[in-house]
Amino acid sequence: MMRKAVCPGSFDPITNGHLDIIERASQLYDELIVAVLVNPEKAGKFDVDTRMAMIRESTSHLSGVTVDSFHGLLVHYCRDHGVEVIVKGLRAISDFEYEVQMAQMNRGLSGIETVFMPTGPEHGHLSSSLIKAVAHFGGNVAHLVPPPVLQRLHPREED
Ligand code: PNS
Repeated sequence: MMRKAVCPGSFDPITNGHLDIIERASQLYDELIVAVLVNPEKAGKFDVDTRMAMIRESTSHLSGVTVDSFHGLLVHYCRDHGVEVIVKGLRAISDFEYEVQMAQMNRGLSGIETVFMPTGPEHGHLSSSLIKAVAHFGGNVAHLVPPPVLQRLHPREED
């Protein structure tokens, strides 16, 4: 049986921590959709098309990985796309409480299961917000994000 999973998030932008989860989850499922939430209430740094482009470029080496966006409830997206499993990365205990609430709500709404995957310890401190803040003030984030993100965070002077 084909097993289809979704890895949802804001991905503003994708980090090496996200990529670690996507790479490992892609080994476990036949198809993995990386789904970017379209949130009209939160503009973010990058628009959704740019976030999707950065994810596509960063995951082009992975087979079975596709990139999409969604509005509204994640469980409705899963129902409409035949997705059986939600995959979420957990960095630290601080992620746990909210993630468990969401997993329980999603399962209660639809029966869909959430699978948690621990982030690699080298990525445990990463968040898109922290990376944007460091990059904004000229800090080096080259080891924290995939190259397609780095080039957009620090466009060349002549661009
Ligand atoms: O990267 P993020 O911001 O932590 O991702 C959160 C996300 C997009 C996975 C979550 O907010 C979500 O699923 N939003 C869609 C709306 C929804 O289904 N809400 C109910 C969840 S219980």
